[in-house]
Formats: sequence, structure tokens, C-alpha cells
Amino acid sequence: MAAQGIRIEGLKKRYGSGDTAVDALKGVDMEVAPGEVVGLVGPSGSGKSTLLKCLGAVIDPSAGRMTLGDAVIYDQGWKARDLRALRRDKIGFVFQAPYLIPFLDVTDNVALLPMLAGVPNAEARKRALELLTALDVQHRAKAMPSQLSGGEQQRVAIARGLVNRPPVILADEPTAPLDSKRAMAVIRILNDMAKKYETAIIVVTHDEKILPTFKRIYHIRDGVTHEEAGEGRGFD
Ligand SMILES: Nc1ncnc2c1ncn2[C@@H]1O[C@H](COP(=O)(O)OP(=O)(O)OP(=O)(O)O)[C@@H](O)[C@H]1O
Ligand SMILES: [Mg+2]
Repeated sequence: MAAQGIRIEGLKKRYGSGDTAVDALKGVDMEVAPGEVVGLVGPSGSGKSTLLKCLGAVIDPSAGRMTLGDAVIYDQGWKARDLRALRRDKIGFVFQAPYLIPFLDVTDNVALLPMLAGVPNAEARKRALELLTALDVQHRAKAMPSQLSGGEQQRVAIARGLVNRPPVILADEPTAPLDSKRAMAVIRILNDMAKKYETAIIVVTHDEKILPTFKRIYHIRDGVTHEEAGEGRGFD
């Protein structure tokens, strides 16, 4: 799949209307190159999840512009013709709560997306197992989601977000329930993906352990973003 950077310009999001309206995003600018992993930090309620949901076409922005590669997907209204296809083919999500499918085992939770995209079942399961192994949950491959710990569920959800090798990955606190060794492994995998497939990746995090790994970090406060250089350290 062709590499696609992210460009966000003047993005606004208002929830509700009238007296109870909340202006969650007031003009966000952000750019992520193909192959780049950027951090997104800010206080609780500052609009981090709102920004990822707008970019992932889970909710409608109120104004602004968003581009993936050469394609304008939003410009004062959705320009992408098929938002379901956009979500399915372009975006890998890793959300705060894992949302695994309760009646599918771990392998099938991960293999389902490539199967739906037409990858033969055996190949889809092989890809799923490779990722589960990289994330150190391969021993739970036949378990049902309800039988997993919170951290195991999160790692399965991460595998599911990456398995289709989407050009864009949006991760909302992906390492929150993980110990520092596993958190670092997740960040290493995201960086490997970025390099290997030219994926553009945004990681929302409060995690002090992983913050020093980013080369660039966006801070969001009161609905606007400021860019800062990060330390760009390694992953060990
Ligand atoms: N569906 C909604 N309806 C109304 N207001 C909302 C809705 N979702 C979020 N908000 C408000 O928008 C603002 C931004 O919320 P958002 O979830 O994006 O914050 P966040 O930065 O992800 O916070 P956290 O670190 O706690 O996850 C908050 O004031 C929140 O209360
Ligand atoms: Mg959030």
C-alpha cells in the first residue's frame, strides 16, 4: 500500500450545541511523515482522543482540513467518498479499551481483518500469530478474550490494529496497562512497522517510560497543539 503521511490543518471539533457545547479542538495543526512515529500528550480532557477519532473518521470534525498522502479526506466536510473503506483500509486503531470480539478466540480476533480484506485464511492466521509472538501473547492464541488479563487483551488489540499493515496507525494510550518491558516492546514494534511499511503513526501517551523514545512530540492544551522536539532515544 502506498505510503501516506498525515496533514491536519485548523481542525476544530465542537460537541453538542448551545449552552452545553464543548469546543474540544479549536484549530489543531499537525503533520506526520510516512515512516514517522510522533507522540501526542496533554492533560486529561485536552482533546487527544477527539483528535484521533476525527482523523480516524469515527466522529465528524466541525471544521478544518485533513489529508492522507495526496488525498484530501476532509475539507469543511468529508471528501473521502467511502468512510467505511477509509477506516478499514487506511487506519489501524489501537483504542484505550480493547473492544475484542468476545466469541472469537485470540487468533481469529487478529486474523479477522485480513480475512475480510481477502487474505487467504491460512495466511491471515500466520500473520496474526507472527504479531502475537512479537507481542509475547502467542501462548494465549487459542484463548477467548474474557480469559485474558487486561494487559494481554491490550496486546491482542495492538496486534489487531497492526495486522493489515495500514498506512496510518492511531494508538490511544497503547501501553497504559503494560509493564515497562512490554511497553517498550510495543513501542519498538510500532517503530519497526513505521520503518518497514512507511507507516505514519500517532501515539497518545502519558507514559513516562516511552516519552523519551519520540523524536517529535505534539502537546495539546485548550484544544490547540504545539510541537516540540523529543529526545529520540532508543527502545532498550
Ligand atoms: N461525546 C462527547 N460529548 C460531549 N463532550 C465530549 C464528548 N467526548 C469528549 N467530550 C469532551 O471533549 C473534551 C476532550 O475530550 P477527549 O476525550 O478528547 O480528551 P482526552 O485528551 O482524550 O482526555 P483523556 O486523557 O482523559 O483521555 C473533554 O472536555 C470532554 O469532556
Ligand atoms: Mg482520551
